[in-house]
Amino acid sequence: MSSIRKAVVPVAGLGTRLFPASHAVKKELFPVVGPDGIARALLHYHLLDLDAAGFEEVCIIVQPGEEEAIRAYVDGPDDAYLGRLEKNPELHAEALRMREFGKRVRFAVQHEQEGYGHAVHQARDFVDGEPFLLCLGDHLFRGSPVPPAAELARAWSHSAPCSVSAVNRISADQLKGYGTIAGRRLARNPKMIEVSRIIEKPDPETARASLRVDGLGDDEFLGWFGMHLLSPSIFEVLARMIRDDIRDKGEFQLTRAQEIQREQEGYFALEMTAARRFDFGTPIDYLAALADFAMP
Ligand code: UTP
Repeated sequence: MSSIRKAVVPVAGLGTRLFPASHAVKKELFPVVGPDGIARALLHYHLLDLDAAGFEEVCIIVQPGEEEAIRAYVDGPDDAYLGRLEKNPELHAEALRMREFGKRVRFAVQHEQEGYGHAVHQARDFVDGEPFLLCLGDHLFRGSPVPPAAELARAWSHSAPCSVSAVNRISADQLKGYGTIAGRRLARNPKMIEVSRIIEKPDPETARASLRVDGLGDDEFLGWFGMHLLSPSIFEVLARMIRDDIRDKGEFQLTRAQEIQREQEGYFALEMTAARRFDFGTPIDYLAALADFAMP
């Protein structure tokens, strides 16, 4: 059981790269077959993982008008449908589990799609001054043996009161997709890194010159894994960015807020070595992740 109680999962993006399928169903509800052979909506796996990692409440950030459909899913089926599932005990048990977890799901609305940082800002009332876990809505994660969410929540005991982000090794050609860090490993726990710089999607020259972490190969870097344990001061930073209209490529980006938070109070990263992430954001990623994720 983690001492961090709350988690936030933004799913309010436009999903343009998965158009036109995302025009029918939002990508975070796309079907994904689990290693147990059960077909679930992508978002469902977040709830299962967060439940397993001991989180008490989850806030899903949605677009206006999306809450009803997602609420209908996460609350599980009605009694009549549940009765029909009785002939399949595995699915029946799954439905009961959904009903239980559904009670712990909250919603916040992002009225304009102004970027990931802006989406996170909508969770400020839900978070209400506590440290919280943030998961990228269109990724899934798998740990061995514990869920990455639980591993990161444990790292908070080394980083508190500073935020800690999960990172993993990426190559130079992956830099265009990830926030990337520089930093120094802690002698007592080399998987923990005291971060000295965070840059969103750096070009390879910048990364080679200023985003080094010891113990990596020549052209290896540490990039965002898609999961962060954030100190609640992130909301003050995001509020200032929104007030002062500080945007990158037209959006309020979380990575910039994280770099500001680092300058103000310090920041840590946890290198995920055994855990994996699955990206469902583009058609080709979705296809590859579907096949990969279903493997036990
Ligand atoms: P992406 O950066 O993949 O953006 O968001 P997107 O809008 O979903 O997809 P494209 O780029 O148009 O294809 C990463 C996660 O952040 C959420 C998304 O729902 C996704 O789960 N997000 C993004 C928001 O909640 N709000 C935003 O304004 C942007």
